Amino acid sequence: MARNDGYLSARESRRISRENRRVTKAFEKQHKRKNVPEEEYLTQMKDPNNSVEFENLHTYFFTDVGTSKAVDGVSFDVPIGKTVGVVGESGCGKSVTSLSLMQLLQRPQGQIVEGSIRLNMGDGKAYEITKAPNEVMQKLRGNYISMIFQEPMTALNPVFRIGEQVNEVLQLHNEEMSEESVRERTIELLEMVGIANSEGVYKMFPHELSGGMRQRVVIAMALACNPRIIIADEPTTALDVTIQAQILDLLRQLKDKINSSIMFITHDLGVIAEMADIVVVMYAGRIVEKGTAEEIFKHPAHPYTIGLMNSKPIVGKKVDKLYSIPGKVPNPINMPDYCYFKDRCELCVDKCSGEYPGVVKLSDTHEVSCYRYYDRKEGE
Ligand SMILES: Nc1ncnc2c1ncn2[C@@H]1O[C@H](COP(=O)(O)OP(=O)(O)OP(=O)(O)O)[C@@H](O)[C@H]1O
Ligand SMILES: [Mg+2]
Repeated sequence: MARNDGYLSARESRRISRENRRVTKAFEKQHKRKNVPEEEYLTQMKDPNNSVEFENLHTYFFTDVGTSKAVDGVSFDVPIGKTVGVVGESGCGKSVTSLSLMQLLQRPQGQIVEGSIRLNMGDGKAYEITKAPNEVMQKLRGNYISMIFQEPMTALNPVFRIGEQVNEVLQLHNEEMSEESVRERTIELLEMVGIANSEGVYKMFPHELSGGMRQRVVIAMALACNPRIIIADEPTTALDVTIQAQILDLLRQLKDKINSSIMFITHDLGVIAEMADIVVVMYAGRIVEKGTAEEIFKHPAHPYTIGLMNSKPIVGKKVDKLYSIPGKVPNPINMPDYCYFKDRCELCVDKCSGEYPGVVKLSDTHEVSCYRYYDRKEGE
């Protein structure tokens, strides 16, 4: 047992490490399997109009101080051709959810321990990502799922020319392409992301470009193989606001052009309002509310969503001090057994000290996990 003061004895810590090694070793063995028959990770989409379905996803980190439940029972769909915005404070599990889909979690500590992630491969075929071994994931990344990271400089290699780096992505996934057609396609991609002087940029090094241009190159690399889903994890936070608007515009146009879906991760509600068709609000590793962008912005239901809305500055509205949600996110190693938001909530009702609230459907598309709406649940 952990001592009440929150510190662990050396003996306890050793026991946890030993136990973690045992658990993660078993997971790693599964990941490293070779020549796994396809049947083992084939599955069916619940709805063929979705490109990705997350169902009851649990992703944990087995650390020496205990198990951190970074994502704890997350379910949502990403429909084909739509943008799903995932919002929430820092540390609520947004990146871990997307890294679970890519299987790029920090391993061996980070593991998907339960739940499903179904990826639509087209033609009625779907893969269960949680069961796909490493060698299959390598083929899916870039080809079917790709990711745009926050800081473009870290995604590009400083010692190679831009053209070579985009070429490499194309060559890796299309071995039969001739050198000439790879070059042509790279130039075409650079033009598509709005780089005017594409022949010139082809020969440049990353440091010769501005931040906005670099992010355009990263987007070109992400789009190189027409992925079915693009994960954009805070793609514009490292850029200034005018460039941010341009990049958002670009992403919107491109999504329609190639008909893929975007999972857009940010803590900026303004960006979500501009980009998302569907909004998923996460808090402490769980989804507290989801709905269409209109439902979430016009009728936010969960006190956390309402708090997030209130903490957003509004042009023309004069306030002495910007609202901030009191308190902080609970420790993911030691979550309470009641609603995770209760200790910070200013709108609590009697039932709130009960177990974690279930999902209440407010409309076909709008769902919230909060006791304040339980009268509607009982009426179902
Ligand atoms: N490698 C790791 N080892 C242990 N815990 C981790 C690791 N990576 C993430 N976590 C934990 O998982 C939780 C969720 O982290 P995540 O990175 O998904 O947050 P986020 O919502 O993306 O936040 P941000 O807005 O800051 O990017 C955090 O509590 C974090 O401490
Ligand atoms: Mg993150």
